[in-house]
Amino acid sequence: AMGNPTNIFWHECPVGKVDRQKLLNQQGCIVWITGLSGSGKSTLACSLGRQLHSRGKLSYVLDGDNLRHGLNKNLGFAPEDRAENIRRVGEVAKLFADAGLICIASLISPYRKDRDACRALLPENFIEVFLNMPLELCEGRDPKGLYKLARAGKIKGFTGIDDPYEPPLKCEVCIEIQEKDGNCPTPNEMAGQVVTYLEDKGYLE
Ligand code: PPS
Repeated sequence: AMGNPTNIFWHECPVGKVDRQKLLNQQGCIVWITGLSGSGKSTLACSLGRQLHSRGKLSYVLDGDNLRHGLNKNLGFAPEDRAENIRRVGEVAKLFADAGLICIASLISPYRKDRDACRALLPENFIEVFLNMPLELCEGRDPKGLYKLARAGKIKGFTGIDDPYEPPLKCEVCIEIQEKDGNCPTPNEMAGQVVTYLEDKGYLE
């Protein structure tokens, strides 16, 4: 039965995570970026990938929107579909981290319990990054015109409009974007905040 594997055995290969990490001279981890649609998660993920690359660290971006074209093309946006979306990406991210890479996952991941389940897959090497941009700003940017459609009732269950977003209670990096001073960090500055965290934790040695 599903979730209760019988007659299935775990096979261990002689070359393991530690061997791969030595070869690559880096430590695998998951950088999980969560935030509203249009908050700039993908842009941040790519900036971070570029900064890591220029420091000689191998990373890979798992972008929610992109994965929905392939691995997750059979999933929609109902809570159970989002849960399965997050679960799959969490498992894939764990494999990338096991391969020795810095895996950058960028998904709305609106439910705390789904994110926490991913964290539980790799608790020692899970870095949750909250891109905290107010809804008004995301909606004002509306890069794909989806908020407009959601307000018009043409998309049902859109995160932040008629579907929930549960902000992290605790996260490793919290990127605050506030309108009031009009002084918004650039994607490179945001990525810099994550790089500083990774540096402090010894991931970039
Ligand atoms: S989730 O909630 O983590 O499973 O979502 P994710 O896989 O990151 O996909 C989010 C992108 O899908 C588009 N989209 C929607 N988002 C939220 N709610 C609804 N109903 C919806 N329908 C389509 C939207 O472009 C999201 O893109 P981003 O990159 O987050 O702006």
